[in-house]
Amino acid sequence: MGKGRSIIIGSDHAAYELKEKIKTYLINIGYSVEDAGAKNTASVNYADYGKKVAAAVSSGQYLKGILLCGTGLGMSMTANRFPNVRAALCSDIFSAKMSRLHNDSNILVLGGRIVGDILAFELVQTWLDTEFEGGRHLERIQSIEH
Ligand code: RB5
Repeated sequence: MGKGRSIIIGSDHAAYELKEKIKTYLINIGYSVEDAGAKNTASVNYADYGKKVAAAVSSGQYLKGILLCGTGLGMSMTANRFPNVRAALCSDIFSAKMSRLHNDSNILVLGGRIVGDILAFELVQTWLDTEFEGGRHLERIQSIEH
């Protein structure tokens, strides 16, 4: 399976259950999924899992990742410290779409205590289906790094 249909996912305990459901959703639509943990609902530090996913996207090993914690805040703060990572915390469809079109977001972050299952699936599907527009937005995202 090519890199384009592979995705890495991670969560803390607070969003473990939603992570498991999103994994199933992704597999059902033909993605190969690498699960960076957490492995159950025992309390953990979100940063440990955020760093695993962000490092894999930052290095280019995976083109896209999904991170979840209770609010999504800790995961986005962690992931956005990594070079070339553009992690987008989304709870509405417009932001999920624009984060791809204009920001070429490569990690989608969701709050497991914020969004319901169906909205989460819609956010994932929209994010995966939307391509980066490039053009003037390429220069803008490049300037984030320097
Ligand atoms: C865990 O209680 C919670 O703090 C975490 O899931 C996340 O929301 C942090 O930003």
